[in-house]
Amino acid sequence: MRLTMRLVALFVLVSLLAFAAAWWLTNKTLLAAIETTLEQEIGELTASGQPEGIAAAVRGVAATADPDHLIVRYDGAQGAVGNYQGPLPDGRIRQAVLEDEVRDVDGAYVLLSEPVPGGTLTVGQGADAFDELREIFSRVLAFAMLPTALIVLAGGLLIARRAANRSTAIEATLARLTAGDLAARLPPMPGPADDLSRVGAGIDRLAAAQEASSAALRQVSADIAHDLKTPIQRLSVLLDRARAEAPDLESLDRAADEMQGIVATFEALLRIAQIEGGSPRARFAPVALGPLVATMAELFEPAAEESGHSLTLSLDRPATIRGDRTLLGQLVTNLLENALRHSAPCPVALSVEGATVTVADRGPGIPETERQAVLRRLYRLDRSRSTPGSGLGLSLVDAIAKLHGGQLELADNKPGLRVSVQFDESGNP
Ligand SMILES: Nc1ncnc2c1ncn2[C@@H]1O[C@H](COP(=O)(O)OP(=O)(O)O)[C@@H](O)[C@H]1O
Ligand SMILES: [Mg+2]
Repeated sequence: MRLTMRLVALFVLVSLLAFAAAWWLTNKTLLAAIETTLEQEIGELTASGQPEGIAAAVRGVAATADPDHLIVRYDGAQGAVGNYQGPLPDGRIRQAVLEDEVRDVDGAYVLLSEPVPGGTLTVGQGADAFDELREIFSRVLAFAMLPTALIVLAGGLLIARRAANRSTAIEATLARLTAGDLAARLPPMPGPADDLSRVGAGIDRLAAAQEASSAALRQVSADIAHDLKTPIQRLSVLLDRARAEAPDLESLDRAADEMQGIVATFEALLRIAQIEGGSPRARFAPVALGPLVATMAELFEPAAEESGHSLTLSLDRPATIRGDRTLLGQLVTNLLENALRHSAPCPVALSVEGATVTVADRGPGIPETERQAVLRRLYRLDRSRSTPGSGLGLSLVDAIAKLHGGQLELADNKPGLRVSVQFDESGNP
């Protein structure tokens, strides 16, 4: 927009300069032409070379000439002779407004005065030509320059607005893509293609490629989990059998523990893949958040006591949403598990406020820069490497929240971590 205004201003300025130059040149040429005519006139009047002859010639012209067009005057020894006897401004060639009521002279003239034998001879021509010139130039200005400037301005504004709309759309789409919404695409851009629409199309292609590769990655991880599930289960059964056959072997017990962790990880990976596929949506039914969360609090009471945490529950007009009860239970479980597992003994608050479920602890929290990363599969903070777990808890929470159209937010509880999931209450029973 600013660029357009600048260009229009530049255009107007250049046009005005060219116009002024044309005006100045034309004026000069016109004046030169008039000067030549007046010089000729003086030449004719002074042909005699004698003061009396000049005075006679002036009288002769003054008798017949129309003073509106031609002024002649001879200032000689006997005073002024001619068809104008009013005051005269000094100078050689000049423009002046003359007034002589007696001889009916009133108007603008171009005057030329020359010293001649016996005095000064002045001839003048009506300056109508300059009035006409001024008229022509003001018409050109009004009918050519102004409309052109307006058209350029309107066109420029139109183009600028389209560019602004396009860059806003591109910015919005980039923001969504950056926030992780890989399905974001640019809205259609009406009008002819330009640099911006080409950049937009490039962004769309990039997003599509990104979406496809992240889907492929997800598919591969799901496929691996799926393919390894059966052999791992078999291995697990074999391990159990080996433990039964050799109950004193401590290493077999440890192997069985490890096995349990592996099985849990694979199950979680598969469950996330399944949730992201959206299939559990078919089982959606009304779920009252109040009783669900109250049950979870009851279930976790003994674990919290054992780990030295104090679990509190608060319900504020808990809503009923459409969802999968088991998965929503899993979501709360994962959040409570994290609070107990990743923080030293402290108060842990579980609450429902309308359709928002929140778990807040007073442990070390998660640094702002890591809050996006911990939602990634298998990602754990360095300090948590020694605690049990597989880095899939929050990924599962994120997948479940998304499946339900909820907003997951990780925030600073000052101190501690405060995780809330805001479900959509409207339109749900
Ligand atoms: N309440 C919490 N307080 C501090 N850090 C947490 C909390 N919850 C999660 N984290 C951090 O986020 C990481 C990812 O969490 P999660 O996906 O549940 O994996 P896991 O619990 O199996 O390690 C954890 O390893 C831990 O570093
Ligand atoms: Mg966890």
